[in-house]
Amino acid sequence: MLVSAKDMLTKAKEGHYAVGQFNINNLEWTKAVLLTAQECNSPVILGVSEGAGKYMAGYKTIVGMVNGMLEELNITVPVALHLDHGSYEGAKACIEAGFSSIMFDGSHYPIEENIAKTKELVAITNEKGMSIEAEVGSIGGEEDGVVGAGECADPEECKMVADLGVTMLAAGIGNIHGKYPENWTGLSFDTLDAIQKKTGKMPLVLHGGTGIPEDMIKKAIDLGVSKINVNTECQLSFAAATRKYIEEGKDLQGKGFDPRKLLAPGFEAIKATVKEKMELFGSVNKA
Ligand code: G3H
Ligand code: ZN
Repeated sequence: MLVSAKDMLTKAKEGHYAVGQFNINNLEWTKAVLLTAQECNSPVILGVSEGAGKYMAGYKTIVGMVNGMLEELNITVPVALHLDHGSYEGAKACIEAGFSSIMFDGSHYPIEENIAKTKELVAITNEKGMSIEAEVGSIGGEEDGVVGAGECADPEECKMVADLGVTMLAAGIGNIHGKYPENWTGLSFDTLDAIQKKTGKMPLVLHGGTGIPEDMIKKAIDLGVSKINVNTECQLSFAAATRKYIEEGKDLQGKGFDPRKLLAPGFEAIKATVKEKMELFGSVNKA
């Protein structure tokens, strides 16, 4: 059964580790993340962007697929199905479809509007026992059409949004979606520290988890990050493994063109990436 992310993130914050959010794109992605979480005995959050939602034929299809896998793959670790960078309308559609968690990304609105819309969604999600993530400041780069300027969050605004009763808070701290550029100056730990001091027990979310050096990940967890989002890194490992299979001509040998064979190396590559991240984030054996 899908669960809200609240308990897993409260435990992560108290236990000084982070739960990974891994974005899903199709059946292989979903199965790879769920099986790895089970093998690692780790809680996990499946992230679905609005673009991926459309690609997978809609939120209800995804809910059906994930619930089916939880049952038929005997997944017993805590799993939350979470809308990633949702619009107000997208959030409502996911609540309706049976997601267990949503992110409302109102970071591009003036703070008053972000607060008003977040507040309304907090009331709905509370009533349904779902978790909700809000965003303040912005994440740089682009993810699935969501473009951010990358400005660091104002700790005072973070407190205002945390006080609305959200489950988790994403704050811009110099993090960027996609690959980090050569001249990236790193995460702003001063900003993170100030946000953590203002927001207390609130689990903080680090977006743009792809390619952040290990020492920065560990320091971010020490400073109150309890959820880390990874998307691009799974895409890169899937693409590299699939490319290798094709370049070695394996798709032309025997029944190598069968999608169940063609997609197998990418599937294993996603599993390896997810396992590596769960070990780094410290969520192994925390289910
Ligand atoms: O919302 C999802 C993420 O923040 C993932 O970022 O693609 O850079 O790993 P990433
Ligand atoms: Zn993100």
